[in-house]
Amino acid sequence: MSSAQEFQQAPHKLLVIPGPIEVDNRILYANASPSVSHVSPAFISIFGDCLRMLRTILYAEKTGQPFMIAGSGTLGWDQTAANLVEPGEEVVVLNHGYFGDSFAECLEAYGAKVTVLKAPIGGIVDENELVKVLKEKKVKLVTITHVDTSTGVLSPVERYCELIHKTSPDTLIAIDAVCAAGSEEIRFDDWGLDVVVTAPQKGLGVPPGLSLVMASKKALGVLEKRKAPVTAYYASWRRWLPIMQAYEAGQPKYFATPPVQLVNALHVGLKQVLEDKPSLEERFKVHKQVSNYVKDELEKMGCGFVPLDRANSANGMTAARYPKGITAADVLGPLAERDIVVAGGLHKEIASEYFRVGHMGVTAVDQQRGDIEKILKNVKEVLDIARAKQA
Ligand SMILES: Cc1ncc(COP(=O)(O)O)c(C=O)c1O
Repeated sequence: MSSAQEFQQAPHKLLVIPGPIEVDNRILYANASPSVSHVSPAFISIFGDCLRMLRTILYAEKTGQPFMIAGSGTLGWDQTAANLVEPGEEVVVLNHGYFGDSFAECLEAYGAKVTVLKAPIGGIVDENELVKVLKEKKVKLVTITHVDTSTGVLSPVERYCELIHKTSPDTLIAIDAVCAAGSEEIRFDDWGLDVVVTAPQKGLGVPPGLSLVMASKKALGVLEKRKAPVTAYYASWRRWLPIMQAYEAGQPKYFATPPVQLVNALHVGLKQVLEDKPSLEERFKVHKQVSNYVKDELEKMGCGFVPLDRANSANGMTAARYPKGITAADVLGPLAERDIVVAGGLHKEIASEYFRVGHMGVTAVDQQRGDIEKILKNVKEVLDIARAKQA
């Protein structure tokens, strides 16, 4: 295949789990680009562009320092914990599901004293509980999972940020936006965020394998002043900061080899987010419209939802409860046989009661693909078949 325009990926099942998601042909083609030195001028320019585009996508132009490191989304938790928290310091984790549990575990692994504020399943953490704990202790960091992929709960990040800034201005705020960047609006500068942790394989629509992190000037200042050594080697921002600065300045510098082809793919993916239609701002609206449509249609089919409230439901995915009498076996296998891959439940207390559908990236914004109609038509058919069997 000689050009991106001619390239067509092999026929495959439609992947509509809440990430990784379907990848556009142009991005996959870039992921198969010929080898090039990671310190060549051409690659340095591509890497630098990716960092600049990340700043734009996260509205982090004023205070954001991007890091782009080979690894997966999880590596962003390690970076946050290893660089910003000294052993014994207090961290508060706002927990809306499985990924809140795991972020807390990661912080503990680096010696943080973690207080978990756990929301009821499908609900959000009570803001009074957050304020109370901030008044009781000297909290170094609050972490918030923007969208917990296990429950589909969307946290009111902006509101939590306001409360944290008002109650405890020195406290740092880190959000896990692995399942939010690209599908939910994130205003890094305006909300006063200190860390955004994300990854390419969900709302950004690029293959997995990178940890994408934005850190504030305040966070880097805290790192500068820390007394205990950074408790990691590969995840140390002290090692990576000069590399990121060099790439943005167009200069070669080496610490560890970046995944060159994947960075090429990300470059194409981020350009699509910023330059293709819909525009960045429209993109979030489109995700909202598609999400409301999917949720309304599933409701008509008898499904309920894990999130207790539409206002706190993710726009890039839906965690739908099976209608009465229907089980996972009636839905997941039959959909896969129809070449549609959705995900089962992940929250351990209710895992058998719901399934998860991703509607982010190209599945949401490229409506010519017809993914949404295909998903809804087939979910309706497998539910009708299961009900007919019961009758
Ligand atoms: C909210 C959230 N955080 C973190 C992760 C971990 O990302 P990764 O699997 O890329 O390590 C995921 C993965 O699905 C996620 O959904």
